[in-house]
Amino acid sequence: MAIQSTITLNNGTVIPQVGLGVFQTPDGATTVDAVTVALEAGYRHIDTAMIYGNETSVGEGLRRSGVPRGDVFVTTKLWNDDIRAHRGQAAFEESLERLGLDYVDLYLIHWPADGWQQAWDDLQAIYAAGRAKAIGVSNFQRHHLEELLANSDVRPAVDQIESSPQFANQELIDFAHAQGIDVEAWSPLGGTGGNLLSDPRLAAIGAKYGKSPAQVVIRWHIQRGVIVLPKSTHAERIRQNFDVFDFNLTGEDMAAVNAINTGRRNGADPDTFDF
Ligand code: A2P
Repeated sequence: MAIQSTITLNNGTVIPQVGLGVFQTPDGATTVDAVTVALEAGYRHIDTAMIYGNETSVGEGLRRSGVPRGDVFVTTKLWNDDIRAHRGQAAFEESLERLGLDYVDLYLIHWPADGWQQAWDDLQAIYAAGRAKAIGVSNFQRHHLEELLANSDVRPAVDQIESSPQFANQELIDFAHAQGIDVEAWSPLGGTGGNLLSDPRLAAIGAKYGKSPAQVVIRWHIQRGVIVLPKSTHAERIRQNFDVFDFNLTGEDMAAVNAINTGRRNGADPDTFDF
């Protein structure tokens, strides 16, 4: 198996560039199996959240895999209700309890819900105590990042945002990168129910490399320097989505994937979300 690529975050923490996303992966056997299959295939990065309702199964999958805890990068996130209720530290402890872990590698503010400024203080305390190896944000727009950076000495390690060939979100990525903040892409394959992977342009590119549309898209994210979190509940697809370290898209093919951009989101807008 080819060596997977990693990125060193702004605090020195090393993150594997491809992680398994488990949004909409049902709690119980489905999540346990997805995590186990992923770790067997070589993934060393799992991205969950309190609101996904599957932290317990993520922890179970980690333990069942037999892969040492220290070899796996685990992310979870502080949910909006807990942000609004100023429950940052308590909610974090609850997540650790469900995961059955005594630290996470990355803890994120899930959305810029009212109260996120105080939540950022809570995350800094969690980080200072060594319970999260890195802290960051998710669904922050440029103006949220600007407000945070103006008021905090600690830079978020990452901003996890929607990004796919259909909604590249490139200006925000460029801004974050210029600030030393790495970017993680959610719905990197266009999301559940999306039509990105049936785009014939991706199939045509993939045919040149003997790769599927999903593999082309994941490779595109890797080569643009983004951390990518594909989700699947199917073992074959989970394996396929990690078989992306043995080819390189040419500049021309990268440009062809860039041309798919429509500028339209598949998911909620961080400036108008209502949950
Ligand atoms: P499934 O979980 O049924 O495999 P995203 O990562 O952008 O959220 O997209 C995930 C969607 O793409 C899910 O609907 C997932 O379905 C599907 N998917 C994931 N990997 C692949 C793949 N390699 N080929 C086709 N569809 C995939």
